[in-house]
Amino acid sequence: MAFLFIFSKLTISTNYIAILADNNKIRSMKHARNFILTLAALLMVAGCNNSSNTNTKDMANNEPLQEVAGRKNFGPNHALVTTPQPCVMIATWDENRKPDVMMAAWAGQLDAKQIVISLSKHKTTENLEKTGAFTISFADERTVAQSDYFGLVSGNNEPDKVGKAGFTVTPSPNVNAPIINEYPLTLECKVLSFKDGMLIGEIINQSADECILTDGKVDLAKLKPIVFDAAGVCYRALGEVVGKAWGAGKAIAE
Ligand SMILES: Cc1cc2nc3c(=O)[nH]c(=O)nc-3n(C[C@H](O)[C@H](O)[C@H](O)COP(=O)(O)O)c2cc1C
Repeated sequence: MAFLFIFSKLTISTNYIAILADNNKIRSMKHARNFILTLAALLMVAGCNNSSNTNTKDMANNEPLQEVAGRKNFGPNHALVTTPQPCVMIATWDENRKPDVMMAAWAGQLDAKQIVISLSKHKTTENLEKTGAFTISFADERTVAQSDYFGLVSGNNEPDKVGKAGFTVTPSPNVNAPIINEYPLTLECKVLSFKDGMLIGEIINQSADECILTDGKVDLAKLKPIVFDAAGVCYRALGEVVGKAWGAGKAIAE
């Protein structure tokens, strides 16, 4: 179908729009480009819901995708690409040194010292292109409402987003960006590149509030980070430890 083809040409950075559109947040989008992408996403979501599995196509070869018995195909462009997704909070200074924060779920670690985030045009991207820096914090169970608010409202429309959420900042001593005091774990980053909606940041430092440390190490049980569930369009808490990494599989290896 035409809309599926259009959507297949969009980059991963537009996937979050499918979720927003699905969540009736289209009103908040200002730019014509975003509107068109959102429309395509809406059509795609509707198409996914109504279509049978045989409607999914291998776009490279323009042929129907084959399915495995007992499994539903979603094709390559379903909003649920990798799940669950981290809820990273990007903080920047604006031109008047007012702090701005936005939520991003299409983010990941590139290597030990680099982070990659798929970003559309926002107040945040305007800011970080000017300052060359940003901080990343992690939304947690205590800050669900504020963190979601930072993903709903743009600094272009609310110049004091941080204050309105009741949050406060400390200037990072290492990069030209604010640290949000209410988020206990923060990466201080310099912009390495921002091209084609893909932000790559170099991690200069990571700092953690003592309240989330156990024996001097970051303790996720204390941090209580949340993840974004694209299938359920909601945030989820993390569960219990269920096994040791590089350990749980040893019994099978032996
Ligand atoms: C759950 C969730 C995830 C989001 N993920 C992203 C993302 O990965 N990339 C992106 O560009 N925008 C993402 N957004 C949208 C921005 O957070 C939103 O447009 C925000 O208002 C931008 O703020 P700013 O204009 O002040 O920078 C997400 C929003 C939500 C609620």
